[in-house]
Formats: sequence, C-alpha cells, structure tokens
Amino acid sequence: MKKALWYALAAFAVAGCFGVNWWLSAQRHARKIAARKAAFAAYGVHVDGSSDYAALPLSVPVRESVKEIGLDLFVCDHIGKQRRSCADCHPRDQGGTDGRRHGAHVTLPVENLAFQRVFGHDGAETNLTAVVERMVFGADYLAFPTNWDFRKRIGNGLRFRDRFDAAFGSSWSTNEVVLALSEYAWSRITVHTPFDWYMFGSGHPEALGPAAKRGFDAFKDARCIRCHSGIALGGERTEKNVKMPGLRGFSRRPFARQGEDAVADKAASMPGAPKSAGALSDLAAFLRCL
Ligand code: HEC
Ligand code: HEC
Repeated sequence: MKKALWYALAAFAVAGCFGVNWWLSAQRHARKIAARKAAFAAYGVHVDGSSDYAALPLSVPVRESVKEIGLDLFVCDHIGKQRRSCADCHPRDQGGTDGRRHGAHVTLPVENLAFQRVFGHDGAETNLTAVVERMVFGADYLAFPTNWDFRKRIGNGLRFRDRFDAAFGSSWSTNEVVLALSEYAWSRITVHTPFDWYMFGSGHPEALGPAAKRGFDAFKDARCIRCHSGIALGGERTEKNVKMPGLRGFSRRPFARQGEDAVADKAASMPGAPKSAGALSDLAAFLRCL
C-alpha cells in the first residue's frame, strides 16, 4: 500500500516537472512573440507575431529635408578623393553594394539598415552614424581630409550652403554632413520584391514560383534565421566578430546576379544548410526573390 503511494507521488512529481517545463517554454514563446511584435511595430509594421517573416514597410520616419541633402551628398563625386562618391561603392540600383572588396572588406549593402542593430563588417558599431563617419574620413573610403574646411568646400564649392542653413541653422559643420548621410542611409529600403508581395497583407501566394516556395520551406527548415534574423533577415547581431548580413534585398545585389549556381554554392556553405542539390537550388531560387 505504502509502495503504491510512493509510486503515485513519484509519478505526480514527474508529471509536475513536465508541466512546469511546458508552462515555462510556453511563457518563453509568448515573450518572444510579444518582443517580435513590438520590434516590428516600432517600424510601423504589424504582424500577428506567429511568423518570423514579414513584408518590409515602404518607408521609415526620417527628416525629409535632411534625407534629401544626404541623398545629394551620397551621389556627389566632389567630396571624396579621386572624385569618389558613396554611390560608387554602394550603387543604389544594385541593392546598395558593388559586391567588391575595398581595403580589407567587401562592401556591405547600404539598404534596410533601419531594421538592423549592428553596423560595420564586424558589427562593432551600434550607431549607424559612427560607420558613416568612418566612410567619410576613412582612407579606404571617401578619405575626406579631417583638416579640410568642410564647411567651405560643401558650402561654396557645391552650393549646398543654403540647404544646410535651412536644415541646421547657420552653425553646421562636419557633424551635420555625417548626419545627413546617415539619415539618407537609414531611409534606404528594399521594396517590391516577390517576397514582399508574397508576405504583403494577407499574402499573395502566386508571387513566388514553386521552386522559390520550396526554397522558403528549406530556409525555414534549416533555421537560417538563427543568424539571419529580424525583418531584414540579418543585421541584428554578430558572431565571431562578423556581422550577420541582412538577406532582404539580396536579389538586387551583384552576388545574386552571378547566377543560380553561385548562390546555391553560397547557401551550401552556410551552417545547417541542406545537403541535396535539389534543396540547394530551391534555396537559391528563394534567395533571388528576397
Ligand atoms: C571605396 C568604397 C566605399 C566608399 C566610397 C564608401 N563605402 Fe561604405 N562601405 C564600404 C565597405 C567595404 C564597407 C564594409 C566595411 C566596413 O564595415 O568597415 C562599407 C560599409 C558601409 C556601411 C555599413 C553597412 C552595414 O551593414 O553595417 C555604411 C552605412 C556605409 N558603408 C555607408 C557609406 C557612406 C554614407 C559612404 C559615403 C560617405 C560610403 N559608405 C562610402 C565601401 C565603401
Ligand atoms: C551561424 C550563423 C549563420 C547561419 C545559421 C546562416 N548564415 Fe548565412 N551568413 C552568415 C554570415 C556570418 C555571413 C557573412 C559571411 C559570408 O558571406 O560568408 C552569411 C552570408 C550569407 C549570404 C551572402 C549574403 C551576401 O549578400 O553576401 C547568403 C546568401 C546566406 N548567408 C544565406 C544563408 C542561408 C540560406 C542559410 C540557411 C541555410 C544561412 N545563410 C544560415 C551566417 C549564417
């Protein structure tokens, strides 16, 4: 009789443990969903929280007049050395990257950065402005000499003065140049890719072809979002001092234009990638819709 009681108690304890565990994991899951909803809502994107994926919003809040100055500075070939401009390395019609190496690093796309948290090749910066400053002054980039009279050069040489005065008052300096460029960089968002249509509103299933749809499933199965997480599918964190690049906008990058085999090879090199050639080619089809 006593023995039976002990058994019952033990069974009860084990069931209790499972129960508590289940309850804890349900709580964790609920917290994760709430956090994701809040993170997306901060960009004006509303998701039901049950999906890790969403269409990108069409815009993020920026100061229009500052952004416009930033755009003109971004494409202007008068402020850098050898008439170099930001847009030379970050071409706007190629997902914001030339896909080439400059100095020690391959150009990172200037796109969808408003949805990211870490910046620079090593993701060491949490402030976009810090990287833009490096781009303006860094020897491998625009190499704008720090001892130049930026104000004079921008103001007189390029006739930006009135617009700077209007946006910042008359005491602007290099800081505002960096600020305007950052505002523009922040505003750049990839839009209207097949994946956006697929995810938009209640969804448009026909926007992805059969291979890309299978590729999306493979992407989910391989848990690529372990690293390529968030609405930009990356840019939220680093691992071993490497920034996890955002995959949204990939279809526009020179890499994607190298063709399906190159993209499939890249996917194959990723941790947790599927092994079969079929799944990899589906993944490549999906990546080229992002
Ligand atoms: C000579 C080519 C070149 C020029 C010119 C250049 N960049 Fe870059 N850019 C790069 C490379 C390479 C990287 C990645 C290396 C790094 O982060 O240190 C990068 C990274 C960035 C990043 C970080 C993106 C991320 O995902 O974290 C931003 C933002 C950026 N550049 C903006 C600009 C702006 C604004 C200008 C003009 C002032 C500019 N770049 C000029 C090559 C260039
Ligand atoms: C452990 C983290 C991790 C996982 C998991 C991961 N990736 Fe990556 N991915 C990275 C890092 C880091 C880079 C940048 C370095 C590089 O290109 O190798 C990258 C780069 C990429 C690129 C190139 C992007 C570009 O514009 O150059 C693609 C495409 C890609 N990953 C796809 C995938 C796919 C598909 C999966 C799932 C099968 C996946 N990744 C899983 C970390 C990861």
